[in-house]
Amino acid sequence: MYLTILTALLGLTHATQTPLLETDNFQTITSKQTNHTIRIRPQSETTCAAHSAQYTGWLDIGPQHLFFWYFESQNDPANDPLTLWLNGGPGGSSMIGLFQELGPCLVNEHGNGTVYSPWGWSKNSNLLFVDQPGNVGFSYVDEGAEVPGDSATAAVDMHRFLQLFVSEVFPELNKSEVHLSGESFAGHYIPYLGAQIVTQNTLYPNEPQVNLKSCLVGNGYMSPKDIYFGYWETLCTTNPGVATPVFNETRCDILSTNMPRCMDLLDVCESHPDPAICQAAETVCYDGVVGWYEDESGRGGRNRFDITAPCDLNEMCYPQTLWVQKYLNSKPVWDALSPPAEVKEYVLESEAVVDAFARTSDRMTSASDLVIFLLESGVDFLAYQGNLDLACNTAGNLKWAESLRWKGQTEFTARRLTPWSAVVEGVEARVGNVKEVRGDEAGRFAFVTIDGAGHLVPQDRPDVAFDLMNRWIGGRDFI
Ligand SMILES: *[C@@H]1O[C@H](CO)[C@@H](O)[C@H](O)[C@H]1NC(C)=O
Ligand SMILES: *[C@@H]1O[C@H](CO)[C@@H](O)[C@H](O)[C@H]1NC(C)=O
Ligand SMILES: *[C@@H]1O[C@H](CO)[C@@H](O)[C@H](O)[C@H]1NC(C)=O
Ligand SMILES: *[C@@H]1O[C@H](CO)[C@@H](O)[C@H](O)[C@H]1NC(C)=O
Repeated sequence: MYLTILTALLGLTHATQTPLLETDNFQTITSKQTNHTIRIRPQSETTCAAHSAQYTGWLDIGPQHLFFWYFESQNDPANDPLTLWLNGGPGGSSMIGLFQELGPCLVNEHGNGTVYSPWGWSKNSNLLFVDQPGNVGFSYVDEGAEVPGDSATAAVDMHRFLQLFVSEVFPELNKSEVHLSGESFAGHYIPYLGAQIVTQNTLYPNEPQVNLKSCLVGNGYMSPKDIYFGYWETLCTTNPGVATPVFNETRCDILSTNMPRCMDLLDVCESHPDPAICQAAETVCYDGVVGWYEDESGRGGRNRFDITAPCDLNEMCYPQTLWVQKYLNSKPVWDALSPPAEVKEYVLESEAVVDAFARTSDRMTSASDLVIFLLESGVDFLAYQGNLDLACNTAGNLKWAESLRWKGQTEFTARRLTPWSAVVEGVEARVGNVKEVRGDEAGRFAFVTIDGAGHLVPQDRPDVAFDLMNRWIGGRDFI
């Protein structure tokens, strides 16, 4: 029966060159084991110039309805891995990643169409974008139901999603290696989701297994404490790759003076993660450290995602985000996706999710224990870093990477960062630094930096991000 549905879906792909208008034109797949359902429909090159089969739809888990956009690999869908991409926030839509960063199609500058990207991550991998948790982007929750407020809750739904996706929606993916990728706050989402997958696979061997191979996180928010610590090095030295430090000595002295108290309070939050304690720590760190930059950011001011770049709009800084929002709210796209009545408008960031996370300690605590658990379970982990980012800076994340207490820590810490090269415009060029350890039973752990890129590495250096992603999922070395 499931094969029949799939065949029908694949058959539809070729027939669908014009958008389907009827809402009942969805195929609905209901899980055999749970009450979860997926509504799915094929999409065409008109909506996204992807050069491979693509599908959109919603996964219904009780009151949570998660939107996804799935691309088959442009190479060998049956044998290539499955890669999930999540943007951060919390509350940020993964459509930013799709249409602005690493998708096979990118939005054009008029916000009225897309162009094929040669650097799309679906070249050698099946590629799945999900708006999560509920209420983000095109996703929604039933009226009266709660919006998830922490990464652990979000991970439960996302694990169910992947289980259903690889076992019943696209059962030919049931043996595929799965990679979890993402950016920024996905440095929380992904370790929680990875750990949930490993735990559930072990606890329920007879349920569909998600064959998790690795996690790769760009400018990840794994540990706020380390990121805040990295503010000084990022703003007060030339280490990010700038000619002169961003802040002068007066400012730098203020930051270094305030840093110990910020660190102390974040330690208390980590050991006693009560939201009230963690919020107090956040306030002290903001006033003493973060705010000195952040208060001058926004339209016409500083850009927290790239210390060398202007900020053309408030909050998001990059005009592409507005093109994405305009495109996804246009009539042709709504006709093609056919969102249910509950979705009123597409927005890039869910305020409800921001608010829900603000009431928990999730944002102020680290995901380190989960990353350690993943590595010890044999799951590979890559932290890659655009060096010009402040929001999730390289200095802080390197400190974090060296702080992880697992078997590979001693060797990782002892290694030096070494230059690595990628093919840029046809020529092999040095693009950043790398260090890594490959355990025997434990996972591979790599820290890779990219010069001249900020928070959104695939947007800033799409060819380098493409090279990095393909090396990683192919299990190849960086040097
Ligand atoms: C599915 O839904 C039915 C009816 O609402 C309920 O009785 C049953 O417990 C649910 N099963 C699972 C696995 O959630
Ligand atoms: C998109 O907008 C540009 C500028 O207004 C226009 O020239 C172009 O024809 C538009 N494309 C589509 C597909 O509407
Ligand atoms: C995987 O999918 C194939 C069909 O594509 C099916 O024959 C097989 O039983 C599935 N295996 C598992 C473990 O679900
Ligand atoms: C240091 O930088 C701040 C912010 O740019 C500025 O207000 C201040 O006058 C500077 N101080 C000195 C001594 O240059």
